[in-house]
Amino acid sequence: MTSKNTHRAVFATRIGAIATTVGSAVGLGNIWRFPYEAGTHGGGAFMVCYIAFIFLLGVPVICAEFILGRSSRSNITGAFRLHASHRVWQLTGYMGVLSSLMILSFYSVVAGWTVEYMVQSAIGSLDYGDAAGYHTHFDSFVTGNWRPALWTIVFLAINFAILMRGVAKGIERFSNILMPMLFILLLIFCANSLTMAGAREGLSFLFSPDFSALTPSTMLGALGQAFFSLSLGLGTMLTYSSYFADNTRLGRSALITASLDTVVAILAGVIIFPAVFTFGMSPSAGPTLVFEVLPSIFHSLAGGTVWSTLFFFLLFLASLTSTISMSEIAITFFMEELKMKRRSAVVLNTGIAALFGTLCALSFGCLSDFTLFGLTLFNFFDTATSNVMLPLGGMIISVFVGWKLDRSVLSEQMTCRGATRFRPMRLLVFLLRWVCPVAIGLIFAQSIGIL
Ligand code: PFF
Repeated sequence: MTSKNTHRAVFATRIGAIATTVGSAVGLGNIWRFPYEAGTHGGGAFMVCYIAFIFLLGVPVICAEFILGRSSRSNITGAFRLHASHRVWQLTGYMGVLSSLMILSFYSVVAGWTVEYMVQSAIGSLDYGDAAGYHTHFDSFVTGNWRPALWTIVFLAINFAILMRGVAKGIERFSNILMPMLFILLLIFCANSLTMAGAREGLSFLFSPDFSALTPSTMLGALGQAFFSLSLGLGTMLTYSSYFADNTRLGRSALITASLDTVVAILAGVIIFPAVFTFGMSPSAGPTLVFEVLPSIFHSLAGGTVWSTLFFFLLFLASLTSTISMSEIAITFFMEELKMKRRSAVVLNTGIAALFGTLCALSFGCLSDFTLFGLTLFNFFDTATSNVMLPLGGMIISVFVGWKLDRSVLSEQMTCRGATRFRPMRLLVFLLRWVCPVAIGLIFAQSIGIL
């Protein structure tokens, strides 16, 4: 298969390709969402499912997205148009665009919290004594309406400014310096958490599975978290791989991305849970957990303000590389399918996210009584995308690549047109044809009570 749109940008280096996919994968999903999901779903049992899903379902689906993206050099809808004989497959693309806009909306709210905490740390006012003090402070901040809404908009404005500069340049330069720094900081905080009084209890919560906690909701939570954390099932990896050079090895990139992403999530868990037990907090506090635990950790450190400012700054940058990637889905869709200019596409993407992002921010305050299926708007966007839309998208992509796509496209892409070998080809096809669709289908069925 030759490139369809030869005018499209290509990432300059292999490191660039991996850094950008890792940049998309690593973000608030690892540091904010993973600990709160693990905490509400019993710790160890969740962890076992999560890791199994990352490697058995996630890695094959990343490969499938990479195959579709690089072979079509197009957005998700265009990829299905090129390869599929029936238009119905393109619906996956529309669902991906919708998912990306919904995620961008609520994700920007949490990124806004990060900006607030970064600024407060920098000016030295993030000082509320003990864990209870940080809890009360966070609660009054998120329910306070205008500040969280304002930070959501500020974050989106920064995202907007970067997007206006185009794809390869801005993103590549960014991710290359940022990721290693964040990683080192996480290692330092890990070492610190391991010396805490609650370290043993925290680690055993995270790493000793209690299989009686293995309920359908734990499995669905772990499945959703795996897809969310890998930026999978909505076309992000597909869109990024459409910019990969022809000699980028897809299998290896998929495995590296999944492994690094998982390591960062585990590090976050190792930082958070010892502290949760040391400070006598509840691991199942939900979305607010990390914003209460982390400041308490920083408070207990010498030079806490500096650590705290640096950490929230890096977390803010990690969020940006993720929001840039999810924004590209809707932007390339608006440009390539609706024939919009890049500028208008970026404006539209940001405008929609600003509207719904503000509503999500307010759903902790004045809109907390407005619910959909019993969930606030923020929780609805979070749950509907992670637990339903992304795994469903991943299931369709795996069925399509496993069953429908010409086998020659698979081997061409996985072997860089015969230039390299890809030994586990049969395993990949087996996972895509059987394991991914059946496992995702079973988890869906169980969680709506059919099985
Ligand atoms: N994977 C990102 C994270 O863990 O923070 C979130 C994300 C990015 C989800 C891009 C979806 C996406 F398209």
